[in-house]
Amino acid sequence: MTLERILSEPRIQVRVRDGVSLARSDDASSFVVSSEASDGPLSVGPYRPEYDDANHLLRVGAPLVSLRDSVSARGDAALAASYLQWLGRLSDRGLIEFPLVTEGVEHAVIVPQRPSFVPTLSAEVPANARSLDRFALLRRLDGSWILESPLVGARFLLSDLDSLDRPAVRCALSAAGFLEATPAPDDPGSAALAQWEFHDLLLHHHHRGGWHRDPIGATFPFIGEIDPLPARRPAWPGNPVPLPSASPSSSENSFSSVLEGRRSERTCDPTRPITLDALGALLDRAARAREFDSITLQDSAGRSASYEISFRPYPSAGSCYELEIYPLVARCEGLDPGLYHYDSVEHQLVRISSPNLETDMIVFEASNATSFMASPQIVLIFAARFARVTWKYRALAYGLILRNLGALCQTLYLAATELELSPCAIGYGNAERFARLTGLDPVVEGSVGEFVLGGKPLPSRRRG
Ligand SMILES: Cc1cc2nc3c(=O)[nH]c(=O)nc-3n(C[C@H](O)[C@H](O)[C@H](O)COP(=O)(O)O)c2cc1C
Repeated sequence: MTLERILSEPRIQVRVRDGVSLARSDDASSFVVSSEASDGPLSVGPYRPEYDDANHLLRVGAPLVSLRDSVSARGDAALAASYLQWLGRLSDRGLIEFPLVTEGVEHAVIVPQRPSFVPTLSAEVPANARSLDRFALLRRLDGSWILESPLVGARFLLSDLDSLDRPAVRCALSAAGFLEATPAPDDPGSAALAQWEFHDLLLHHHHRGGWHRDPIGATFPFIGEIDPLPARRPAWPGNPVPLPSASPSSSENSFSSVLEGRRSERTCDPTRPITLDALGALLDRAARAREFDSITLQDSAGRSASYEISFRPYPSAGSCYELEIYPLVARCEGLDPGLYHYDSVEHQLVRISSPNLETDMIVFEASNATSFMASPQIVLIFAARFARVTWKYRALAYGLILRNLGALCQTLYLAATELELSPCAIGYGNAERFARLTGLDPVVEGSVGEFVLGGKPLPSRRRG
């Protein structure tokens, strides 16, 4: 799609994006753009003096036809056509935005998020002009309203919500795809979309590159402003319970036999509950912190900070190791019931809470998640110290935490298989209950997953 389609639409203006500067290089050989987001000036094509007047208009915003005519006046029609193509390339790189203006008033700014997005206006205000699509999201950022959707290749910036009532804005929202559409019958895409929930699609869209122009990856957004959290969580008060270590693996348990033998086991043997020794061995094998180090990180502006990392049996993005393990013990030989925190450095437990209605409910909910097949003897609750990850990564943080959780669960599964325990990951957990039980602020350290464990029934007594 090319910019030519808005040549005849004076209500859509074209402007260099807010925060981006467009200039001639020092040696006058090229145009360069720079922005806070880029590491330095970026060349965007050879310098042409005939573009100067148009680019002056481009900095403040003007209809495309005015920009083209300005280049024609200093050059010719062919050069004006080249200018439009050059503008299209700037737009594909996310350097152009499109103010929507009627009678000299700017009602919205359309900011493309994907290459090739060109705003248009529907011919008339659509009948469903008030019905935003169910994936549309309106939020506040830096003094503006932002309307976005994972399904639309642009965001609308609105200075006030009354702008949504402007006919031109409604026509632009309709053309961009922000309004409810009637699903086409027999379209496999419609069936797929119908099954997405709002929050899942929003997270998926923002967590991957290509669909938005927000910073993404390890950019250390808070370097120099907020200190990163230490690798080791401050200890909980209380008397530590030292945990036994794992003994060396027997040679009969080859890695391949452990891989082949791994299953989600939902049955626990009430006559042979899990023991403190087995819990210690499991945590030693799967989650114990082996070593610590400190690395120096630097952002693109040269600001640096020291970031502690550690080494553990499971992988973790950026060595963040934000996950803490809270064993909730219903029944374990050698260990009183209650909620504990696993200190992965000292390899010990500290009891945080004795059994109560909340701990009973967590065990009940974990059992419920297995359709009451499991009567868990221990529920391992995983909580994330979110700032370990959010300090470092933009756009990726929550997705990385869930992936780290998957890596930890698989490691626990394998270690439990080797130790002949009954392990099962759990897909549902109640973060509010965990927050109440621990008194932890759920945006600082909150539960993100659960895993149940128990003594494995002897083969003769195991269910099919
Ligand atoms: C992320 C995740 C969540 C899970 N949630 C549950 C659950 O809530 N209840 C349950 O009974 N099993 C749960 N499981 C276990 C799966 O049902 C099990 O892995 C799958 O049926 C394959 O069987 P297997 O693990 O024995 O090979 C979960 C597994 C994973 C990886």
